[in-house]
Amino acid sequence: MITIKTAREIALMHEAGKLLAACHRKIAGLIQPGITTMEIDVFVEKFLQKHGAKPEQKGYQGYKYATCASINDEICHGFPRKSPLQEGDIVTIDMVVNLNGALADSAWSYGVGTISEEASRLLHVTKQALYKGIKQAVAGSRIGDIGHAIQFYAESEGYSVVREFTGHGIGPSIHEDPHIPHYGLPGKGIRLKPGMVITIEPMINIGTWLSKRDDNGWTARTKDGALSAQYEHTIAITNNGPFILTEQS
Ligand code: MF3
Ligand code: CO
Repeated sequence: MITIKTAREIALMHEAGKLLAACHRKIAGLIQPGITTMEIDVFVEKFLQKHGAKPEQKGYQGYKYATCASINDEICHGFPRKSPLQEGDIVTIDMVVNLNGALADSAWSYGVGTISEEASRLLHVTKQALYKGIKQAVAGSRIGDIGHAIQFYAESEGYSVVREFTGHGIGPSIHEDPHIPHYGLPGKGIRLKPGMVITIEPMINIGTWLSKRDDNGWTARTKDGALSAQYEHTIAITNNGPFILTEQS
């Protein structure tokens, strides 16, 4: 069931989103060769606690950490680990913030130290792909318009779009209807209405979009071992266009 949020509910989710955005800006300042994703995870938990919020992912379907930290060929749901990030790595930190019962979800990819031209172009295109999707998140458009904009752009840049994981509705729980694929056909799918709140979170790969799952049952990585990046925002559909609840600027 797709729910329509009230202005008040959206305002509360925006408060959660602003805190999440502030947390990502802090992480951007922490990421450097030598830091571990476990240290980042601990930082996030403390930061949220200090601001009266909770990491919603912790305990979600048995997931144990505040963040997902997906390095290089990991697509999503990487576990925070105790080995240090290395110069040239790319890492996606994904988290869901619960502030007074309202949720916001945002993932961001970061380069560690100096990264290759290839990695840097992937990050650039993936972020652009997110914003091209967001541009389509307007009342009256259809879900396929979002996916098509992302897929058309990413593939025209020579990359592939992950199929196994999609964006989603979000409200009192992390994953609500509808699914928001990052691929698709314009004019297809349900129509977006004011008051819907969704995530758009393209995972873009340099090589194949096919993925495989680690033995931990969670972590997805590219089948060919090539790099994958992801940027995610939580967005409210409004009468005045897309309202990004997790914007960092
Ligand atoms: N933040 C993720 C998303 O974008 C959800 C992570 S699932 C969890 O959909 F189990 F790790 F929490
Ligand atoms: Co997320």
